[in-house]
Amino acid sequence: MRYSPEIFVDREKELSSLRKWVNEGTNVLVVGLRGYGKTSLFMKFLEEVGCDFPGVYINCLTIYTGRDLLNSLLEELETLSSRGCIDFDRMFFDALLSRTRDSRDCLNALYKLLEKHGIRFIIFDEISTLLRRLGAQKPFRGAGGAKAVAEHFKALLDRYRGISTIFADTSTNFHYELFGKYSGPLFRQYQAMLELEPLSFGDSIELIREILRKRNVGLSDNIVLYIADISGGVPAYIEMLLAIAEEGMDIREYEAEVERSLILGLLNRYFEALLDKFSWTEQEVLYAIAKGMTRFSELQRSIAGSAQALNSLVRKGVVINVKKGPRESYYLIKDKLFTAWLAIREKPGMRKISFKKARMLTIGFESLVREIFFTLKESVRIRDELGREITIEPPKKVYRYEGALGEIDMVAEYRDYVVVGEIYFGLKCGREKINQLLRHIGIAERLGYKVRQAILISYFDYPEETIGYARKISEETPILLLTEKQLRELSKYSLVRLP
Ligand SMILES: Nc1ncnc2c1ncn2[C@@H]1O[C@H](COP(=O)(O)OP(=O)(O)O)[C@@H](O)[C@H]1O
Ligand SMILES: [Mg+2]
Repeated sequence: MRYSPEIFVDREKELSSLRKWVNEGTNVLVVGLRGYGKTSLFMKFLEEVGCDFPGVYINCLTIYTGRDLLNSLLEELETLSSRGCIDFDRMFFDALLSRTRDSRDCLNALYKLLEKHGIRFIIFDEISTLLRRLGAQKPFRGAGGAKAVAEHFKALLDRYRGISTIFADTSTNFHYELFGKYSGPLFRQYQAMLELEPLSFGDSIELIREILRKRNVGLSDNIVLYIADISGGVPAYIEMLLAIAEEGMDIREYEAEVERSLILGLLNRYFEALLDKFSWTEQEVLYAIAKGMTRFSELQRSIAGSAQALNSLVRKGVVINVKKGPRESYYLIKDKLFTAWLAIREKPGMRKISFKKARMLTIGFESLVREIFFTLKESVRIRDELGREITIEPPKKVYRYEGALGEIDMVAEYRDYVVVGEIYFGLKCGREKINQLLRHIGIAERLGYKVRQAILISYFDYPEETIGYARKISEETPILLLTEKQLRELSKYSLVRLP
């Protein structure tokens, strides 16, 4: 029995792309980290296309042999037939099945059956697992293993051009060997690629509210925003974060509960299992980055084999490499909640960071904004909410200032000046945020910086009152007002995308 998601938000673009590709017979590779929503997307897609395009779904985690594969297909074909989408020919199926001896025969039979029944697409969810398992069996074992299975898939894709094959995978080294490398058998064997990103903050809030409505639980707006913020839009995190929220909690109690869960609860268990998937050197490198050691030269000095581990982490899509000049390279971990978990964990020889600090430095909208600025690849011209055009250049360094003089959400350093920013993730960005920004200018100047620009960044639109106040202030001190819209534009030119 397959379940379609009861609650499903957005993914409109992804769904319509899939529909277009299936219609064209295009082969597709779908990648995304665990919990981003690949499987849910397919369930929704299958439900939506109904009989328009008869298609089948294979959960490769449940397939161990070629026979399993055909049995799984049998169930799918019977379901499609009971819905009146296809005429299922059982005799044809049984005849083919009786002639299969090994997993290669089963793969051939599979595509023959798809063609015979007018199936337009087949989804292999977690394809790497299937390639590996079939690779360990006759006739692929000893003939190249998983690579040989992939080669055989290539031949099948060539032969059955009318059928879209959709491969889905969590990116791994193994996946890279087969799909990502020039010499990999399935390199460029698909004509389209879909990289599933987290949900936008807006859609995350919608998802949280829908789940709460369904469970008939009320949470304050504060907590809803907090969950959207620290989940980074990853649907699986939203669910786990909601599981530990209780009606009537205030934000402080909830924050303490999140910390508890990260240290010895549900979230801790999830991240322990996630970390376990990496090699020991990769684990060490991840810890070091999370605890603040982000420069390549430093990592290389303190961890043996870190260069290789970093390469493989980048390939897996877990870590981003930011090049700043010919000899300077930095690394960022994509998954922020995971980063915070690593940061606050005990690790001999490394700094332990408090949850409060990790929250400030690594998770949520504020740190995302800093990373978008930090990873800008070129100058970008944007028009702010007051209609003024300016150019934002890639900075040398970006950080949060915390010191004797106070705090500044964002200091972006350039050769001989800085840009300061106040970053806000609340629903209503009031005029006091502008005053705060003005104070930031003061702090930066007292620190000896020349402030070139001051920017207020709110995820949501500004109230009229704030806009009016900003106009008045700007006559003396020009400040920029940005929202999600400009950030989205900026993030097109940066390595970190605003989901
Ligand atoms: N678009 C979405 N709307 C609502 N919930 C979602 C959405 N995408 C994923 N989820 C939820 O998040 C969790 C993880 O999603 P899943 O599809 O299993 O991710 P993946 O297959 O990428 O590991 C699931 O429990 C699912 O219900
Ligand atoms: Mg999945």
